[in-house]
Amino acid sequence: MDNLRVELGERSYDIIIRNGSLNDLGEIALRSGLKGAAAVVTNPLVKRLYGTRATNSLKKAGFKPFFITIPDGERYKNLKSLSVIFDELIAKRGERTTPIIALGGGVIGDLAGFAAATYLRGVPFVQVPTTLLSQVDSSVGGKTGVNHPRGKNLIGAFYQPRVVVIDPEVLKTLAPRELKAGFAEVAKYGVIWDEKFFSFLEEKVAEILTLGSSVTEAIRTSCEIKASVVGSDERESGLRAILNFGHTFGHAIEANAGYGRVKHGEAVAIGMCMAADMAESSGFCKKGVLSRIEGLLKAAGLPVVSKIRISPKDYLKALRIDKKVSAGRLRFVLPTRLGAVDIAEVSEAKITEFFRKKTERKR
Ligand code: NAD
Ligand code: GLY
Repeated sequence: MDNLRVELGERSYDIIIRNGSLNDLGEIALRSGLKGAAAVVTNPLVKRLYGTRATNSLKKAGFKPFFITIPDGERYKNLKSLSVIFDELIAKRGERTTPIIALGGGVIGDLAGFAAATYLRGVPFVQVPTTLLSQVDSSVGGKTGVNHPRGKNLIGAFYQPRVVVIDPEVLKTLAPRELKAGFAEVAKYGVIWDEKFFSFLEEKVAEILTLGSSVTEAIRTSCEIKASVVGSDERESGLRAILNFGHTFGHAIEANAGYGRVKHGEAVAIGMCMAADMAESSGFCKKGVLSRIEGLLKAAGLPVVSKIRISPKDYLKALRIDKKVSAGRLRFVLPTRLGAVDIAEVSEAKITEFFRKKTERKR
């Protein structure tokens, strides 16, 4: 199969999706114009599972790789870990040509990407995503950054990788809960862009979650959609905001639960249902969209309502610092039908009304 490409002029890059591609990492990095020392940023678990394969491949291609290992977990996606990466890069005399290779899930990818964007004002960056979520979403598109105690991803930069190397085989070691969390982002693409893809997911959900042959197709279609969106709006001045479908409520859930307690993908699953509910109850889309989204997510074993009780007041507090807030007005990505979304400004009064009706329906 041909490689996918994110078209961004001189910053265009390939997304390589192939079983076993991790073994060719060195060769791929070389072909992407990189050479010399290479910093492999990872965590202890991924290092133990795939560190040797990655560094052997890099060595074979003539690189001199060294590891920078950050503890595992969302709570380490912070400025302190960034400092650790800088300290190591300086100690190893990393130069402007020294690539940073992110080997891990979205936490490592976002953190290593931000380090690559800022160390010596920018060094080459390679994404080797190892979770489903990072393979279908975070490794593509150049959003990098860290969390602030008051909000997710509040500090960061747009910084595109030179190449993305996706090996679906590494998902075999991923915990089922992580696989499901990644599936939420896959489902997102069906809702925002492609009803046919949504139907494909409804049919193949069990096969995808047991890593049958459809998983590569699901990853590929997800990356294709993400590449199209990013290619036409890299810095989220318009269209790219649709990729945040479910994330506005999702981030509010993550912030209220405490980072790491609810997985990002789980929060997005609940957030997508809340957004579809809001769309239906405000007449933004016809009835039926929510039940199909809920059906697919439930079939994937994902939560569709928050187990953590969050008051409308706490939701609003978190929603107010969402990155889509413009001139103080809250903005949501809402489905107009399955396969299409639009951005809607929703007043705080309407949001409060939505929560009130939701509570009444539950009674
Ligand atoms: P993660 O990086 O924490 O990985 C989840 C767990 O899986 C970790 O414990 C990790 O060690 C483990 N793991 C990774 N690969 C493995 C493998 N192959 N086998 C076994 N275990 C493995 O979480 P995630 O879900 O990959 O990423 C979530 C992060 O991504 C969040 O911080 C979120 O904000 C960010 N994100 C960023 C973007 C973006 O565009 N930059 C998009 C979506 C999400
Ligand atoms: N995950 C949202 C984006 O990349 O824009």
